[in-house]
Amino acid sequence: MGYESLFQPIKIGRVEIKNRIGMAPMNINFTREGYISEQHMAYFAARAKGGTGLIMTEAIRTSIEGTNRTFYDNPHMWHPSHQKNLSELAETVHYFGAKIIAQMNIGPGPQGSSKKMGLQPIAASPVAFQVPKENVPKAMLPMIEKGEVYLSLKGEMPREMTKDEIHKETENFAKAARMGLVAGVDGIEMHAAHGYLLHSFMSPLFNKRTDEYGGDLENRMRFLIEVVRATRQLIGSKPVLGVRASSDEHMPGGITLDEMKMVLKRLEQEGLDFFHLSGGSYEAMKYLFPDEDGTMLNDGKELKKVVKMPIMASSVHDPDLAAKAVAEGMCDMIVHGRPLIADAEWANKVKEGRVSEIVKCKRDLICLMRLFQGLPGRCSVNPDFGRERYMPEYRRGPTKMSYWRTSL
Ligand SMILES: Cc1cc2nc3c(=O)[nH]c(=O)nc-3n(C[C@H](O)[C@H](O)[C@H](O)COP(=O)(O)O)c2cc1C
Repeated sequence: MGYESLFQPIKIGRVEIKNRIGMAPMNINFTREGYISEQHMAYFAARAKGGTGLIMTEAIRTSIEGTNRTFYDNPHMWHPSHQKNLSELAETVHYFGAKIIAQMNIGPGPQGSSKKMGLQPIAASPVAFQVPKENVPKAMLPMIEKGEVYLSLKGEMPREMTKDEIHKETENFAKAARMGLVAGVDGIEMHAAHGYLLHSFMSPLFNKRTDEYGGDLENRMRFLIEVVRATRQLIGSKPVLGVRASSDEHMPGGITLDEMKMVLKRLEQEGLDFFHLSGGSYEAMKYLFPDEDGTMLNDGKELKKVVKMPIMASSVHDPDLAAKAVAEGMCDMIVHGRPLIADAEWANKVKEGRVSEIVKCKRDLICLMRLFQGLPGRCSVNPDFGRERYMPEYRRGPTKMSYWRTSL
């Protein structure tokens, strides 16, 4: 079949993206103590040069409280000094012809850890996560069981966040989004997926609160909606703002597709520009890091019936299925995680009829296991991944235009 559907431009809010292929947010541990590194820039440059229309950064932490409660070294955005390298990164991605959206995350919530600073995780309620073994992707279980990675199948008991903390983090997120946009990214994605803090508030499984942030769906989505509103208030109506959430928690008692349809309708009313679909959580990891293609597409099709905003979906590695999913309206963009680790040239190879040359991801999750070992990402099929900074073709040249954004 043809791949034309993947190479149509798309407008997300005010931003035009040249094709329907994006790069999903992936923490790959290239950060240096919270600062985006030279390696980050070269790695994203390779994917932009490889024809990817939209680059998304991994989850950038918007809060010191969140940062201190996880040992993963994600980039930070809670101090003006964090803007400098993000600005360099935005210029680099633009230089190589792609757009860039920064994913931002308040904090780990129930997935937090006291190992870094001795601080108890904070979450909607004191509910600890517990991963059933059957929910772990095939490649991961042996390493977890051998204790070779910093990942446990049982989480620490968090304490309930106070209302003051909720309000403070709402404000922090809005400020971080503004700092990111000032630095030059084309949009912001709020991370409300995978069991992290905002997700855990929406989940009836993790949210047992009796105040206005718990109980019915309206209350459980209150934190998310308040963050959207505070952010819009600070950045205005024009900058691109989206949300990533799991369409279904895939856990008994967790949030379901029917509830997520209501959440999406509300988000659209609140002026959201796009929705980025994912699945599961830490507890249902096989939906977050699927072992096969297309697991999110049926939900994408259902969600597209209830909102008009563009919907992005991941885990569609096969170019034929990716083109079909976009052509048949199961989603508007395919946002690749692992396929773009395995092959930075995925988009150009599809466009140029060189599909047989694509280096396929084996879904062995070495990339993620390295992260869980505290090491920078590597890939079993792409020896260049993680070493792009040594490759001169991924260094940007000088741009004539000096950049100064006078208003958002
Ligand atoms: C190493 C690694 C790190 C990830 N980090 C993030 C993250 O920071 N934020 C996020 O929303 N998803 C994260 N994900 C999930 C991916 O964005 C994506 O949804 C998932 O890998 C499934 O898509 P794929 O099959 O195309 O890789 C990560 C995935 C991997 C493999």
